[in-house]
Amino acid sequence: MSSQDRALPPPSDAELLDIARAARTTAYAPYSRFRVGAAIATVDGRILSGANVENAAYPAGVCAERVAASQAVVAGSRDFSAIAIVGDGAGPCTPCGMCRQFLYEFAPNLRVLASGEEGAVRAYILGRDLLPDGFGPRRLRT
Ligand code: THU
Repeated sequence: MSSQDRALPPPSDAELLDIARAARTTAYAPYSRFRVGAAIATVDGRILSGANVENAAYPAGVCAERVAASQAVVAGSRDFSAIAIVGDGAGPCTPCGMCRQFLYEFAPNLRVLASGEEGAVRAYILGRDLLPDGFGPRRLRT
């Protein structure tokens, strides 16, 4: 086993939040002017980040969380342990309903850290706190 094969320890909350905060600066948000960054930790020890990318046809825009999760999936990691989200302004930036559903597909027990530029960081468990009784892939296999 090479050192690259060894599972890395999960990142601290502070580390994941720092990566999300840095990702926020890469947002393309000319319409809302509300930038969001996200960083997702995978069980196999990777951290992938994303930011919101808006569009002149507004509904075509995509949230930071779905960019980060999609980066992880296409990198080959579908098993997520935690996501940090940092939005502009004060107070926690909690994920929208579409992102809650998108993340639930891969990680119903995901730890979700929500933050703003200042103020408290809130921590949730996705399926318990943000999407109880969510609809997931297992429901289609019964
Ligand atoms: N947005 C995110 O990227 N994540 C969230 O958790 C909340 C909202 C984006 C979508 C849109 O580009 C902008 O923030 C304003 O809604």
